Formats: sequence, C-alpha cells, structure tokens
Amino acid sequence: MEAAYPPVRAERRAVSEEESRRANGPDWDRYADEYQATHGAFLGDTGFVWGPEGLTEKEAGVLGDVGGREVLELGSGAGQCARWVRSQGGRAYGLDLAHRQLQHSSRIDDASGVVVPSVQATATAIPFAPASFDVVFCSFGALQFVADIDRCIAEVVRVLRPGGRFAFSITHPTRWMFVDDPGPEGLVASQSYWDRTPYVEVDDASGEVSYVEHHRTLGDWVGLLAGAGFRITDLLEPQWPAELDRNWGGWSRTRGLLTPGTAIFGADLAP
Ligand SMILES: C[S@@+](CC[C@H](N)C(=O)[O-])C[C@H]1O[C@@H](n2cnc3c(N)ncnc32)[C@H](O)[C@@H]1O
Repeated sequence: MEAAYPPVRAERRAVSEEESRRANGPDWDRYADEYQATHGAFLGDTGFVWGPEGLTEKEAGVLGDVGGREVLELGSGAGQCARWVRSQGGRAYGLDLAHRQLQHSSRIDDASGVVVPSVQATATAIPFAPASFDVVFCSFGALQFVADIDRCIAEVVRVLRPGGRFAFSITHPTRWMFVDDPGPEGLVASQSYWDRTPYVEVDDASGEVSYVEHHRTLGDWVGLLAGAGFRITDLLEPQWPAELDRNWGGWSRTRGLLTPGTAIFGADLAP
C-alpha cells in the first residue's frame, strides 16, 4: 500500500523541541511500513547495524560486553539493535516516538521469539528512574531529531549509572555541506558546515512543519559530551565497503567511497 505523503517544501529554519516532536512522530508513523520493507532485511531482525555502510556492533564493539547489562536504545524503531543486544545476553529495552515503529517491533518480537520490551516516549523525557542503565545507545535514532539536545543528553546522564557507556551514530556532520542526493550532485559542497539551522519540511497545504532534522558540528558533539561529564573514547567514521552497492536515501557507493556518511561516538560517564 502506498503511504500518503503530503506534498512538502524543504527549507532551513528554527524550530522548537515541541514542533520537532509534533512533526517527527507522525512522520515516522507514516514512513514506518516503507522503512521496514526497504531496510528490514539489511538491518536483520536480530542484527545491529550502525548505519548505511553496514558496520555491525559485532565488528565495531563500541558498546563493550553487554552480557548481563541493563541497556536502553533511544529511537529504537523496530528494535533490531536492542534485539541483537538481547541475543548477546544483555537486558535491552527500546524507546521510540513513533507508535507504528513500535508495532513493527512487536511484530518482529513475535516472529523472532526475542522480545524487546519497549516504550513510546521521547528521548528528551526518558520514562525511567535515575541510574537504571549500564549502557544507553542510539543507532541513527532520536539524537538528530531532537531540538533540545542539552535536555536529551541530561536525560541520558540521569538514567545512566556512574561509569555507564553512551554510544550513538548520526549522519556525519560534514554531510550537512551537501544536498541529500545519492548521485554526483551530492558531492558538491553548497551549504555551510557551520549553519546549524535545522532542515525542515513544511506541508504545502497546512503550512505545518511535517519533518525536522537538527545539525550539530563535530565540535558541538565533543563539547556536549565533555560538558556533560563524558570521556570520549571513540569516534568511528566507517568506510564504505567497496563491494556494497546499495543506496539508503542520500547514502550511496558514489558518495560513500569519497566522503564519510556516518559518525559513531562512544563515551564513558565518569565513575
Ligand atoms: C532512522 S530511524 C532509526 C531506527 C532504528 N534505530 C534503526 O536502526 O532502524 C529513527 C528513529 O528515531 C525515532 N525518533 C525520532 N524522534 C525521536 C524522539 N524525539 N525520541 C525518540 N525517538 C525518536 C523515529 O521514530 C525512528 O524510529
């Protein structure tokens, strides 16, 4: 069945946390079926892929040993990554804004027999008690969709135990210099790396914001993590595998062989 996408116009403009959430929840509800149909096999029902380059957590080891650990995935979608953590002996839980994504998570729970208990919530108000988790992670999940990143990081700090691990993947910040096109057009720098104005899609008919992504530079992320009491241990920039010829939105072999598409941070909270 075709998803009903309203005609939109793309622009860069300031948007609040509330507007971001009001737009992105319904957008991910609309997109969830297509997202899972298109990328589900690549992700794997019990797989953990950090991004379109296909780097797995098994290869990267950014989370450390998850066996016996309490683990929270932010922006968990259909819970594939959290399910992989469960398969490795970790007690992983999912959190996502979009109800339809969580319905896909339940569907895969039933099909795979590996259940990820999940909650519908926003990463800026995590509904768990302080010091509940040893590890919090996010694979292209909530972080680039929230406006109030200070609140989000403060929430991660609150629910982590002292010495806890935080790891996340995001669109590589340098990508914001280029238009989001998988072809050669997407190799021409035409936008300022330092322009943090969010990318916004506005519904033509209603004038309402219908999708938002937020940009922070590499320096911004370092400052956010260090300022919140984290010691950064990893910044991975996975290379595009020469044999991988699969597009994922604006990610492609054409671009991936020349410029990084994903940044993965790993950091430890002070003990
Ligand atoms: C690109 S998907 C990634 C999902 C999953 N990690 C994966 O690898 O397939 C981004 C997810 O972030 C969720 N999301 C967006 N904004 C969020 C927020 N403020 N809080 C929690 N989840 C959010 C979306 O609903 C969506 O499921």
